[in-house]
Formats: sequence, structure tokens, C-alpha cells
Amino acid sequence: MAPLPSGSEKPMLLADAPAAPRIAVVGATGAVGGTLLELIEDRRLPYRRLHLVASARSAGRTIRVDGHDHQVAELDRFDFRSVDVAFFCAGAEVSREWVPVAVARGALVVDSTSAFRTAPGTPLVVTELAAELLDARPAGGVIAVPGAAAVPVVRVVRDVERRWGLRRIVVSTYQGASDAGHAGIEELQDGSRTVLQDPQATPVSAVFSPPLAFNVLPRIGETLEDGSTRQERELAEEIRTVLGLPGLDVTATCVRVPVVGGQGAAVWVECREAVDRGELVALLRALPGVTVHDSPGAPTPADLDDPDRVHVGRIRVAATASDGFWLWLATDNLRVGGALDAVRIVEEVLARGTL
Ligand SMILES: NC(=O)c1ccc[n+]([C@@H]2O[C@H](COP(=O)([O-])OP(=O)(O)OC[C@H]3O[C@@H](n4cnc5c(N)ncnc54)[C@H](OP(=O)(O)O)[C@@H]3O)[C@@H](O)[C@H]2O)c1
Repeated sequence: MAPLPSGSEKPMLLADAPAAPRIAVVGATGAVGGTLLELIEDRRLPYRRLHLVASARSAGRTIRVDGHDHQVAELDRFDFRSVDVAFFCAGAEVSREWVPVAVARGALVVDSTSAFRTAPGTPLVVTELAAELLDARPAGGVIAVPGAAAVPVVRVVRDVERRWGLRRIVVSTYQGASDAGHAGIEELQDGSRTVLQDPQATPVSAVFSPPLAFNVLPRIGETLEDGSTRQERELAEEIRTVLGLPGLDVTATCVRVPVVGGQGAAVWVECREAVDRGELVALLRALPGVTVHDSPGAPTPADLDDPDRVHVGRIRVAATASDGFWLWLATDNLRVGGALDAVRIVEEVLARGTL
């Protein structure tokens, strides 16, 4: 497909242009899928056809995008032959089963789940760091988006590695309910109401166990044999992969906190040389899509002035070891490392003409 207009000007909406791709969003009714549809509209991602796909639960529902009503199709009955680009955000299990089908039918898949992030031959792409990975269409037909916990970290430490070298990264995440999708959001909201009405009541605990309302859960998802969780292991692996540093010492603790949206991360970075704080702040300020809050206040997920950026605060070079420093990162998990990174990948693919 020929390259479409790119650059600082947003591309024109090309709903009827033959060069624009036919796009499917698998998981269109979910938290990430809904954000994707907003971004497709807001960023005027060009498309010729837009297919919204979900499970039988939502099939037939109507969702308005770009002023047009779109009926949700059922994945089991959907024909990927009518698609050039398929966004997948319906969970890893769905991706494992259906991404190969979509690829076999000719679609280029941009997968926001964990299913293909460490698959050999699948580019794991953060466009701000390595858009050149999109110079050619991947042989396997799949481009993976790193997770919402990994993207903010890699975006701030990649240039730190180039300047001072990296010895170790320790990440502690504070992840809200939206990270667990619509069901997580609803359970936190219902549980909070339940406890506010009756402090002795036990809220429903289907998504989060124990209940998340008025609580902090020190573990997210499946626990592995060494006591870490799969998410912590995957987060470390994604950071190594995107940075291209397979031997880097990365360790993580992922914690669930009772907020609906957004996430925070406290990140300890240990370098190979002493770090000058002034130079570090200047380096972070120069990063694209990063806002530095170098003041006593720090960014919080609830008040991000621009949810498409990574917000950095609490920059502290250690008094006892000047080769190490702390950062606090606040992001909108549905956008950064979620829908926004997926849309940017397609924008880059279209600009490069590598569809
Ligand atoms: N939430 C985040 O912050 C975030 C960030 C980055 C990546 N991700 C990843 O993105 C994926 C989706 O997350 P989410 O938060 O958007 O979840 P969600 O709100 O629960 O949405 C799930 C979506 O997948 C669809 N779906 C579920 N099972 C399906 C099936 N068997 N066949 C077809 N469609 C099916 C659902 O459709 P129905 O309406 O029909 O149920 C819904 O559209 C997950 O893999 C998650 O790890 C999430």
C-alpha cells in the first residue's frame, strides 16, 4: 500500500479513499478498545472501513465512531479477509487463538495483549524509541505493543542507558482497576459503594481477590514458583527486550491500588557511572512525549494534564550512591502502553507505506 500523508499535520480522514486501510478492532467494547476508537477518531487515523468485533455478548450492539453507527460483529463469525489492519485488544487467550487466523487471511495485526510480546520474530514496538522496526512489514504479520507498565519505564530509561549505562532497574507499580478492564472498574466501583453503605459488608470479589475497595493488593495475577507473578516476570522481560539488553538486571513488584484509572510507578535506576542530577533532568526534559515535574509536587494519575504523555516527578539522585536515582512515573494505562501506542504503530506503518 502506498504511504499516506504523515508528519506534524494530522492526516485527513480518508474514509472513502481507496488507499486507506480497512481496519478491525477486536475487543472494541472493552476498556482499551473504547479508548482505541476515541483515538482513531481524535487522531483522524485514516480508514476505508471500520469493523468493530467482540464476543457474542456484545454482538449486534451499536457504537458511534466518526459520526457513524457501527454494529459490533461476533468474532467467531467474523471474516478477516475484509481487513488490512487488525487491532487486537480482547485478552491474550483470544489473541493466541485468533491472531494466527487474522494473519493467515492477510491482515497485519497490532496486538496489545501479552500473547506475542516475547514471541521470536515479533517486533515489540514503542514508536518513540524504535519506529525503524516498522520499516518493513514483519514476516510473522504481528506487531506487539509492550504493556502499560513497561512503556513508561523504557521511554524514560533508554537515553539514560546511552548516557550513563544501566546496571539495574527496580520497578514498583501502583496499578488501578482499569488495568483489569471494564469488569475491574465495575467491581471497584460497586465494592466501594458497598463498603461506604455498610463498613462491615464484604464486597464482591470476582476480578480482585481479596476485594480491592479500600485495600491495596500486593500481587496482580498468577503467582509463579519463585513467588513472583507472571506480570512481574513479563514486565522485566519486556523492558529488557525493548531496550535490547537481554542481560539487564530488572526486578519488579506490581501492586493493585483502589483507583479507577491511571497508574504510578516508583523506579530505581542504577547506572554504570555517577549521574549528575541537573544533567538527568535536562535529559528527561528533552525526551519526546515526556513531561518533567521538577517541583516539590509530583504528578498523580488523577490529574494528568495530558494523558498521552509520560509524567515524571520526584527525581532523586541517591545521596549514598550517586550512580543511582529514583523516578516517579504517572501515566494513563489505557493510552500509554495501551491504545495510544497501538494507534501510533499504525500511523507509522501507513507513513512508511509498509502495510
Ligand atoms: N486495561 C489496560 O490498561 C490495558 C493496557 C494495555 C493492554 N491491555 C490488554 O488489552 C486487552 C484488553 O483489555 P481491556 O482492559 O480492554 O479488557 P476489557 O475491558 O475486559 O475488554 C475485553 C474486550 O475483549 C472482548 N472479548 C473478551 N472475550 C472475547 C472473546 N472470547 N471473543 C471476542 N471478544 C472477546 C470483550 O468483548 P465483550 O464486550 O463481548 O465481552 C471486550 O471487548 C487485555 O489483553 C489487556 O491485558 C489492557
